[in-house]
Amino acid sequence: MFDLIVKNASLANGDSGVDIGCKGDTITAIEKDLAAEAGQIIDACGNLVSPPFVDPHFHMDATLSLGTPRMNVSGTLLEGISLWGELKPIQSVEQIFERAMRYCDLAISMGLGAIRSHVDICDDTLKGVEALLEVQKQVSTYLDLQLVAFPQDGVFRDPTALTNLNRALDMGVSIVGGIPHFERTMDEGANSVRALCEIAAKRGLMVDMHCDESDDPHSRHIETLAFETQRLGLQGRVAGSHLTSMHSMDNYYVSKLIPLIAEAGVHAIPNPLINIMLQGRHDSYPKRRGQTRVRELRDAGITVGFGSDCVMDPWYSLGKADMLDVAFMGLHVGQLSSRADMRWCFDAVTKNSAEIMGLEKYGVEVGNYADMVILQAKDPIEAIRLRPTRLSVIRRGKLIAQTTPSVSTLYMSDRPDRLKPDEYAPE
Ligand code: FE2
Repeated sequence: MFDLIVKNASLANGDSGVDIGCKGDTITAIEKDLAAEAGQIIDACGNLVSPPFVDPHFHMDATLSLGTPRMNVSGTLLEGISLWGELKPIQSVEQIFERAMRYCDLAISMGLGAIRSHVDICDDTLKGVEALLEVQKQVSTYLDLQLVAFPQDGVFRDPTALTNLNRALDMGVSIVGGIPHFERTMDEGANSVRALCEIAAKRGLMVDMHCDESDDPHSRHIETLAFETQRLGLQGRVAGSHLTSMHSMDNYYVSKLIPLIAEAGVHAIPNPLINIMLQGRHDSYPKRRGQTRVRELRDAGITVGFGSDCVMDPWYSLGKADMLDVAFMGLHVGQLSSRADMRWCFDAVTKNSAEIMGLEKYGVEVGNYADMVILQAKDPIEAIRLRPTRLSVIRRGKLIAQTTPSVSTLYMSDRPDRLKPDEYAPE
């Protein structure tokens, strides 16, 4: 007897026609023709049953604030940062909380099971921290929300940021952030990496820094981040987010750098949607893409997870909590077009990001949490191609969201009267 059986599932590993039996919050059986009773049966109809999407890089304190108090006219990262500086003093804890909760509703409906959000601590009132800690509590049944103490204006450049960062960690924020390329000088950037990694080592925390989100090939703070990770024994607990300067670096230097990142066990989190929008803004033509060297990082054995970064905020006015949009953009910008590469892009928004976040019991396997998303597609590549409807979202063995399948009715003579996007998949 099971509490839930998901019948006729296709799995991301290529298995198909399997039934997934769940007891309580755990997957206890995956086999063909599971002959047992269940409290609830969901027919996956041969569709892909994926583990939940995982977003390893987001800004939930800014999300859904688009247009407040004004639009980002230039579209640049720097105007976004100054616009955010205008919004911070005029927004309330309640407004941040409400926006974040609305975003979480959307994210859950889109099959997200975990989000790592940076929260700006360069505000002496720590409104964002207060709001997002409450959101974390409220959504915990449905969504794992990790928070990073993020000194948006520079931990040394902003006079109270270091104090505020420690206050935020004392309040319960569990990851140390940073933004070395935004400090006043290269030396100050390197010093900030060292100081922040030391705080993390002392407190036993993870590190996730906005690192070298710049087109300047001389922005090399990832080198210091890898060095400090090794020096302090933080291997496996540190991520470099963005890493866009690597796009513009000299190949010879990168050939030394990437093995150092791998050796230090530092993870990489590119944010394809945002960086294809923000980078290369000082270029005429040809314009650089600005995405970090995804293929080379991956091939060196570094865990790479794609993040969404922003949805409708001072930096990015689009987005809909769809991690498949993120994978789709990362695939294109990185020219990851072989079948194996496309398949890997699905991992970059699921299991790789889960590994970076240290999620436990993740994945559609016996013994793991019964967390699953049924997509209106048969396999991971089709999922990226179609960015399809999330038919059912299951969390800890319970159905928490459902969406009607996408189907069009056609009114044309001598043509079919019904069209489903997933029926165009080659057999
Ligand atoms: Fe970011």
